[in-house]
Formats: sequence, C-alpha cells, structure tokens
Amino acid sequence: MKDIQIKKLISAEKKRQKKVINLIASENYVSKDVLEALGSELTNKYAEGYSRFRYYGGNENVDKIEDLCKARALKLFGLKPEKWHVNVQSLSGSPANTAVYLALVPPIVREGRLVQQKIMGMSLDQGGHLTHGHKVSATGKFWIQVPYGVDKDTEVLDYANLKEIALREKPAIIVSGYTAYPRIIDWKKMREIADACGAILMVDMSHIAGLVAGRAYLSPFEYADVVTTTVHKTLRGPRAALIFVRSDKKDASGKLLDWHKKIDKAVFPGLQGGPHVNQIAAVAVALKEASTPAFRRYAAQINKNAKVLADGLANMGWKVISGGTDSHLILIDTWMSGQKNSKGAGAVPGKIASDKLEKMGIIVNKNAIPFDTRPPTDPSGIRLGTAAETTRGKREKDFKIIAKKIDEILREAQSYPV
Ligand SMILES: Cc1ncc(COP(=O)(O)O)c(C=O)c1O
Repeated sequence: MKDIQIKKLISAEKKRQKKVINLIASENYVSKDVLEALGSELTNKYAEGYSRFRYYGGNENVDKIEDLCKARALKLFGLKPEKWHVNVQSLSGSPANTAVYLALVPPIVREGRLVQQKIMGMSLDQGGHLTHGHKVSATGKFWIQVPYGVDKDTEVLDYANLKEIALREKPAIIVSGYTAYPRIIDWKKMREIADACGAILMVDMSHIAGLVAGRAYLSPFEYADVVTTTVHKTLRGPRAALIFVRSDKKDASGKLLDWHKKIDKAVFPGLQGGPHVNQIAAVAVALKEASTPAFRRYAAQINKNAKVLADGLANMGWKVISGGTDSHLILIDTWMSGQKNSKGAGAVPGKIASDKLEKMGIIVNKNAIPFDTRPPTDPSGIRLGTAAETTRGKREKDFKIIAKKIDEILREAQSYPV
C-alpha cells in the first residue's frame, strides 16, 4: 500500500487485535478468505437491482455471486426455497431491521394524517437493540415502540407478562432476539403470543446466528415470519446483514402476501442504492465456512467457554445476570455484586470496570443491566462474549484463567474513587 499513514494505522490495529483478549460479544475474527473477497475488485462494481434485473450492465458475474450467496444462506439454515426468501443486500443489521418494518408494517397516511404502527420490542436497557423501536433510532420515530423486558427477580423473559402486553397493545409486529440477553428464547411461546394478538413475529438473531448455524442454539425458523441477522458476530463473516422472510404466507382469503417482494423493494430502492458486491461475496464465503463440521465444533465450544467464564465469575462472587448463560454472551452486574455479595467482590461501575480491564488488555463493553439505576454512559455492568477468543483457539482451561484475571482486575478496581 502506498498510503503510508493508513498502512501504519491498519498495521497498528492488526497488532492491537493480536495483543488483546477480545471479549466484545458482537465481534469476531474473519478468515483470510473473507478478507480477500472484501478487498477484491468487486468493490468497483455498481449493481443496483437484483439478479437479472439490474440497472447497470456488466453484472454477469455479480448475478452469480448474489445467487450463490442466497442459495448458501437458505441451505445453511435448512430452509426450502419454495417457502423462504432471503435478501443479502442489506449493508448492516440496522438497515435490515428498518427495511422489515418499512416493508411489512409501514407508516400509513390515512385522511392526510400519518398513522404509525406499533413495534413490540425489548427496551434498550433490558437487552434490546436500538432498532427494536428505541426513540433515538428512526425505528422509534416512525413507529411506536411497545416496550417489554425481563422479570425483575429471575432476569429472564416472563412470557405470560409478554402476552398480557401484546393483547393490551395489539402491536403490528413483535421483535424477539436481542443484544444483551444471555439465555435461550422460547420461540414457540413467542409465536403463540404473536398469534394471540395477530402480530407478525420477527426474530433478530444477530447475536446468536453462528450458534444457530452450528446447532448450538435453538433455531427460530420453525416459528418466525421474518428473521434478520448480522453476519459479523457469532456467524464470523463480514459486516453485513441477511433478511429471511416466509414467501408462502397467505392472507385470510388465501391470497399470497408476497412479503418477499415487499422486503426486496424496501431494501432497494427503499433504503439503499447499489449493493456492496464485495461484501456479498464475503458473506457467501462465510456462509460456506459456517456449513462445515469444524464450524459446528466451533459453535459448541463457544457455549462451553461461555459457561466456564460465567461459572468462574459467579463462583468468585460476581453477580451474573439471570444466573448464567445459554449462549456466547454473559452480563455481569459489577456494581451490585459488591453490595449484595458476601464474598467481597466490590462495587465497580461499568465504565470503570471496562476501562480497567482494557488497561490490562481485556476488551469488553460497559453495559446496562436490567432495571439499571445508573446512567447509560456509566451503567452498572459489563457484557462479555466468547465468540472471538474461541475463534482464536481458546478452550475451557483458557477461560478459567480469563475469569481469574477479570476477578483480579475488578477487585483492584474496588479502591478506585467512584
Ligand atoms: C440484535 C442486534 N440487531 C441489530 C444490530 C445492528 O447491527 P449493525 O451494527 O450492523 O447495524 C445489532 C448490533 O449490535 C444487534 O445486536
């Protein structure tokens, strides 16, 4: 590379990534093949439209790449092409979610007035994502969020309470699948709730997609109408998103709803212009990698490592939200741990916890915990994930050491002036 400044910065970032222990739950390390596809000549190509319906010439190779990517996506999650459609053009998770709302529950103009529809989504402070209807996101401005959360005592989903909210509020769409929820989600119960109030069931499996692909987490496809996912978390691909949608759904009169056509239109031309073809090729590469037996072993290992990390920290006196994990993700209440626990772990605000850990080479993110009383800029907890370090070959014995190290650093942080 001739640009020395950027070359040096990339090289510094490469070194940083090698040096640290990365416990950011939403990050991972992609393969050289994924990087090669991302850095290929495909980045030069404009391809507005979809396979065989492009607004530009010269797309014979791009059409094949997009078709292959779609076929691999459906195959990986065991979906029949006559029942499911997949859009692979969304640039990332947030536009993918927005595209679904725009397609299936759009704001309606009635008698000259804008009528906003309701999205029932988990609130941000309880573990939901901004695009599940939070007011700072466009999804909270053009739609009305019906918020829900976890039970205060168990810190897991209370499906009876969710049903009550759904029946009262009658949302047009219910979003399940979260950003900071460590436990298994009962998709069947979510389906029953959606059916009870006549809502569409959307699952945002961004965090758990790699685990679903590797059969280490229950698949939502049997129950959901729409499934969105980022590709760059546990699925270990490039920054991108996929939207899966049932193409065989009919209305009460038996007419096909054609949701897939609406989704495609919402992505392009609704929200985006030309797709990032290099990104689509890299997604295809990652999907192939995720279909191997090695990836299944990887997904199982992510879970094992997360359990060891959660148990290790709990045994050393740290409050693990919901008491454990069924995924790659762990939430620790670093603030209340010290105040509630007789084992003496100290009260450390989330920001200090993440800063102190970073200084010692362990990268995490500060995170709100359910019913947090502290501000989002300095919440009560931290979020940990095991996907990235599992990619680098770490096993249970390594995560026992990591748990010990985290405990040591956080105990030292107790003396930090709060
Ligand atoms: C559940 C969930 N959905 C959507 C997104 C948004 O993805 P992106 O950052 O690619 O827009 C995230 C990101 O963390 C997420 O956790």
